[in-house]
Amino acid sequence: MTEKKIMEKIVSLARRRGFIFPACEIYGGLANAYSFGPYGTELKNNIKRLWWKMFVEDREDMVGIDGPIILHPKVWEASGHLENFNDALVDCRKCKNRFRADHLVEKETGRDMEGKLEAMSEVLEREKIKCPKCGAHDWTRVRDFNLMFKTEMNGIRGPVYLRGETAGAIFCDFKNILDSMRVKIPFGIAQIGKVFRNEIMARNFIFRLREFEQMEIEYFINPKADWEKVFDKWLKLQREFALRLGVKEKDLRHFEHPKAKLSHYSKKTVDIEYHFPFGFKELFGLAYRTDFDLAQHARVSGAELKYFDQESGQKFIPHVIEPTFGLERSVLAAILAAYSEEKVKGETRVVLSLPKDVAPVKAAILPLSKKPELINLAKEVLGDLKQSFVLEYDETQSIGKRYRRQDEIGTPYCVTIDFDSLKDKAVTVRDRDTMKQDRVKIQELKKYLREKLS
Ligand code: GAP
Repeated sequence: MTEKKIMEKIVSLARRRGFIFPACEIYGGLANAYSFGPYGTELKNNIKRLWWKMFVEDREDMVGIDGPIILHPKVWEASGHLENFNDALVDCRKCKNRFRADHLVEKETGRDMEGKLEAMSEVLEREKIKCPKCGAHDWTRVRDFNLMFKTEMNGIRGPVYLRGETAGAIFCDFKNILDSMRVKIPFGIAQIGKVFRNEIMARNFIFRLREFEQMEIEYFINPKADWEKVFDKWLKLQREFALRLGVKEKDLRHFEHPKAKLSHYSKKTVDIEYHFPFGFKELFGLAYRTDFDLAQHARVSGAELKYFDQESGQKFIPHVIEPTFGLERSVLAAILAAYSEEKVKGETRVVLSLPKDVAPVKAAILPLSKKPELINLAKEVLGDLKQSFVLEYDETQSIGKRYRRQDEIGTPYCVTIDFDSLKDKAVTVRDRDTMKQDRVKIQELKKYLREKLS
């Protein structure tokens, strides 16, 4: 299967089976924006839960917050986002489409020219690079385009901004956390939430969006600590999280940003890349932000953002290691890694072998026929189990079609209630991955599923 074909299949399955829809379709859609349907929302929530459990609840050195999307505009002045959070923009004068100049140049010449605006303009001219949309060669000069989304707020003069990373809210709450919680360095503040970036070109389905969610940690360390050791530990944990999404080791690699291309706040950045159908691309990121942010926020706000170390009696501005995870990219990687097709009795079976804790529905309850006695028993089984698991009940179509639907949405177990069930008070449980079937007493079913799903 070609890589383009895989993306087409994923996009089509996501829509057909209620994972992800194009946003505002009744109005003709909105510039590569997407809406998460019922299964997509469950999947997303399960990934968030997994992340929160692994990085917040199961650790003693982590606290979680939920800060606002609109922060004081000074936050973005201090963090450097108003000045530096830019991409290289070029317009086609003929068709008026806009492009990331660095992406265009790299695609046409194989040269990575990120950040070199003048040089990119020259290459576009010299190499007579054509507009990918209309074929014309009529470019504006390449210029910086700031990715922060602007809006207005009553009571505030001038623009305010939708946050471009969740980190801003974490740094704003650093002092509150020191004052209200019993944290001791090293410790982290974690947050999951929406982020907005006015990307020049949103593309590759949910890979590059203008509105997305990040799961981020700012991990505060003593400036004298061995930051490289902490950095490496986080890199391992990020890889581990990727594996929990079901991705394979062979599809992951690290990419260290060359010094000249580091973000304005970072001394070292490594991307954890996943082998998407459109190439190895960033799934998660890890940056050593030094004391850049706290020092900047202290300078611009006038607040003291220092930590008092009781053991040494010293005050210092902590340094920060920042592991960051994109939620939609996690969803996409999980779906891609789980997708497979196989031939079963001459038919193609599409399966999403999602990890069981990530799968949107844990088990489907399927009466073999619509006979009232079977439906009554199936509803009884459903009633017994639905407090314990996310279930789906389905009595429509043939059992084969219902299995196929559950395979496609990644349901690990199908529970079939048949005519024998009326006599032996047992059901058939079919395993999504092996397609093997077990006969299980209804009385034992909850325990059986609990063990299988744990
Ligand atoms: N606080 C650091 C930061 O924001 P980033 O690499 O710009 O770093 C973090 O973003 C993560 O957010 C990325 O690793 C990626 O998973 C996700 N991400 C970034 N831009 C995105 C976009 N336009 N659409 C979807 N996810 C995106």
